[in-house]
Amino acid sequence: MSKNAETLAAQIKGVAGDAPVRFGLILGSGLGHIADTVDGIAIPYGDLPGFPHAGVSGHNPNLVIGDLEGVRVAVFGGRSHYYEHGRADAMRLPLEVLKELGADAVIATNAAGSMRTDMPTGSIMCLSDHINFSGLNPLIGEPTDARFVPMKDAYDPDLRSALHQAAKTAEVEMAEGVYAWYSGPSFETPAEIKAIAMLGADAVGMSTVPEVILARFLGLKAAAISTITNMAAGMSDEAISHDHTKAMAPIGAAKLEKVLRGFLQAQT
Ligand code: HPA
Repeated sequence: MSKNAETLAAQIKGVAGDAPVRFGLILGSGLGHIADTVDGIAIPYGDLPGFPHAGVSGHNPNLVIGDLEGVRVAVFGGRSHYYEHGRADAMRLPLEVLKELGADAVIATNAAGSMRTDMPTGSIMCLSDHINFSGLNPLIGEPTDARFVPMKDAYDPDLRSALHQAAKTAEVEMAEGVYAWYSGPSFETPAEIKAIAMLGADAVGMSTVPEVILARFLGLKAAAISTITNMAAGMSDEAISHDHTKAMAPIGAAKLEKVLRGFLQAQT
């Protein structure tokens, strides 16, 4: 673990207490308000040297440590995306800190476009796997043999089944599917969407995959849920824009929040 992560974890424990965190939650578009409901301490990313600036509108850049549904969590109110600066490993330090805080799993959330007509805008999808369509990797440059990370079952089967159980209990429909990572920031062309769908992806987005690779590298279990904010390019006449993403995100986000809360309740 980097010295920097140890120092930051000590700083965080100094204000939030020593009790180990169980889960990390990375909040995507439309979910930032969940951080406000955690019973704990909010630390602005700006107070954590090396944390990303999380400059995307619709994100809330605090690290919040405390209890959510009775479970101690570390909530990342914002993430850094590759397209902001060209660094695929920008979330490495936050995930190292999460590990130092005692967590053994991270659950990422994101906004995504759908390639499946049975998964329209407003649905949610639990990731079963991903396709790294960007060809980028957050571990490029990592010098140790630990860089050769196995990626089978990267989306932890036990976490996935617990999330599906929570969805069932909350009577929320949650699809399951493969997420393709596209670098962004431009959206995909219809031809790219056709290609990605043909390769086996169900949804497409600009985040999460580098975080899951880093989580597996660090020995953290991972799970992820997408909120579908639009049909992918060329799939419908729906407009695709960041404003549209932000406007549509709350529909799926409300379902996702129920699933997350139910999942956490079941952990107590
Ligand atoms: N493509 C990529 N990222 C996205 C999309 C999309 O259609 N919708 C929300 N995030």
